[in-house]
Amino acid sequence: MSTVLEAMEQAALSSLAAATNSEELEAWHQDYLGRKGKVTVFMRSIGSLPAEERPQAGQAGNQLRLLLEERHTARQTEIREVELARALVEETIDVTLPGRRPWTGGLHPITLTLRRMYAIFAEMGFQVYRSREVESDLYNFELLNMPPEHPARDMWDTFYVSDSVVLRTHTSPGQMRAMRDYCPEPVRVIVPGKCYRYEQVTARSEFMFHQVEGLAIGTDITLADLKGVMATFARRMFGPERQMRFRASYFPFTEPSVEVDMDCIICGGEGCRVCKHTGWVEIAGAGMVHPTVLRNGGYDPEQFSGFAFGMGPERIAMILNDVDDIRYFYGNDLRFLRQFGNL
Ligand code: DAH
Repeated sequence: MSTVLEAMEQAALSSLAAATNSEELEAWHQDYLGRKGKVTVFMRSIGSLPAEERPQAGQAGNQLRLLLEERHTARQTEIREVELARALVEETIDVTLPGRRPWTGGLHPITLTLRRMYAIFAEMGFQVYRSREVESDLYNFELLNMPPEHPARDMWDTFYVSDSVVLRTHTSPGQMRAMRDYCPEPVRVIVPGKCYRYEQVTARSEFMFHQVEGLAIGTDITLADLKGVMATFARRMFGPERQMRFRASYFPFTEPSVEVDMDCIICGGEGCRVCKHTGWVEIAGAGMVHPTVLRNGGYDPEQFSGFAFGMGPERIAMILNDVDDIRYFYGNDLRFLRQFGNL
């Protein structure tokens, strides 16, 4: 009997010495002292021994159990110390490291561009006038001097909501709403907002983009005023050196109509990728408000005149930031968006 316990004791003590971490120690405890452990099983078997052997076996078994519990506790203390020492080394926190900056939202590059535009036009006396994105055919086309079947409607590929309701293809219908709101007072507004066109998405065109419309109506407004406003805008936005030129063009709602070019900010007119080697970049369509449009807005063209213009903030942001593909703006790639100013 005692040889069995001696062998058990030796095996237990040597495997206890071999346990090097809490998990192994716990397994060892189960193995010898747990409910189905070797010592426990031995103690349970005492009842089946001859009566005279029982007291001695019981005593010896108890002694072994107490010894093993005691050694277990001692080994546990050792192992915990080692584990704590290791944790203190491995899990040190360098409290002198700078903290991680929490992520914050930022303004979209087009929002930033729009805000700069508002500020520049505000200095010239233009108020922001908001107009609807879902428009009637009447305002988007007809009142702008494009009756049904007018060929100029082909300049705008249109999303129709119904036969007579469209997603505005430009901000120009905002001109008509502003005139009808303000008439017979003079008007000086910009109309910023989203526009939609049923078009192939390419590096140069998106189906949704922004425009900033401008409109000034008064009693003695001339093309020279338009030129001054355009030149002032370009110089505030792109730098005091900027040169302008007007090219004759056609829009149904202006007469005369022009396209406004500015010398290229990248090459200063030498010719480069941004200006497609012409030295000039287009920044607006514009003109003197057509008499029919003035009349539709409630103004007598004999007494009132005005200029209007339409600009694309995406295009302006592309020129300013040397972005060569408009799709980046609405691709929602944070690597792109994060490069622009934060709040
Ligand atoms: N609405 C025109 C477009 O979307 C741009 C434009 C041209 C606006 C001339 C104007 C203007 O106000 O006078 O292409």
